[in-house]
Amino acid sequence: MVEEIIRTKTGIQDLDKALNGGIPQGNIVLVSGGAGTGKSTLCLQFAVNGASTFGEKALYISTEQNKTELYKQANGFGWDISSLELKNLLKTVYFDITEGNLFLEKLETLITEFKPQRLIIDSLITLTDSLTVAGISNDEGFSMVRVAETVSPIPRTEKIISKSVLYHLFKVLRKYQITTILTTELFEGTELLSSDGVSEFIADGVVLLHFLGVGGMESRSLQIRKMRYTAHDEEVMQYSLGKSGIEFSTSEELNL
Ligand SMILES: Nc1ncnc2c1ncn2[C@@H]1O[C@H](COP(=O)(O)OP(=O)(O)O)[C@@H](O)[C@H]1O
Ligand SMILES: [Mg+2]
Repeated sequence: MVEEIIRTKTGIQDLDKALNGGIPQGNIVLVSGGAGTGKSTLCLQFAVNGASTFGEKALYISTEQNKTELYKQANGFGWDISSLELKNLLKTVYFDITEGNLFLEKLETLITEFKPQRLIIDSLITLTDSLTVAGISNDEGFSMVRVAETVSPIPRTEKIISKSVLYHLFKVLRKYQITTILTTELFEGTELLSSDGVSEFIADGVVLLHFLGVGGMESRSLQIRKMRYTAHDEEVMQYSLGKSGIEFSTSEELNL
């Protein structure tokens, strides 16, 4: 018998429809876009909807915004994340990247203790940069970096090290089979789908966010570029950042 795919709903109706019902459970999805496109908002919305609408626990790790800043952003969209935290449905954690070497240890402790069904890491690039600089703290990670340092005939460039750090992080994440969103920054005009140029190949899904501002007209768009284990829409979808976060202009509205 063919098993039906279990899906994690984003709770954003049009996006779930475009995903044929939601993100296949356990997928690791990159959300890539330039500054201000709405990556963090989408992440927060995914976490808040998961906790409040579906009763699914969400672990939100930010390397860029501390708790006060996250609360402020959520508050702007009317999301009461403190009450979700009190109900133990949401956990927000600020990870100071100067402690890069402790990240994987902390992450695994948080996952095994909190047991989230959704995981968000905002952002992947600041994290992998700090892991690369620090070396990874667990044994496997350390030896991997050491090997690259000592016996590898290939010059030990920063790029090689950061790639192995990235593979290692994905390996750890896959172990838990939690539906995960990782954000990555895209620079203006880039052809790449992530800032490191590698994670889009390792990730199960890639969602691209674009911002176009010309002569006072602004336009935001989202495109599902990749989503393993499901059929999905491929067209570019227009959205805005409104009172309740990411809002899509549905076709009915456009017809008015
Ligand atoms: N309360 C709000 N209502 C509507 N739009 C908002 C609100 N707060 C922030 N925004 C919009 O969201 C943008 C920032 O989104 P964010 O998710 O932080 O982007 P990114 O993480 O991609 O840098 C701001 O530039 C602004 O346009
Ligand atoms: Mg952000």
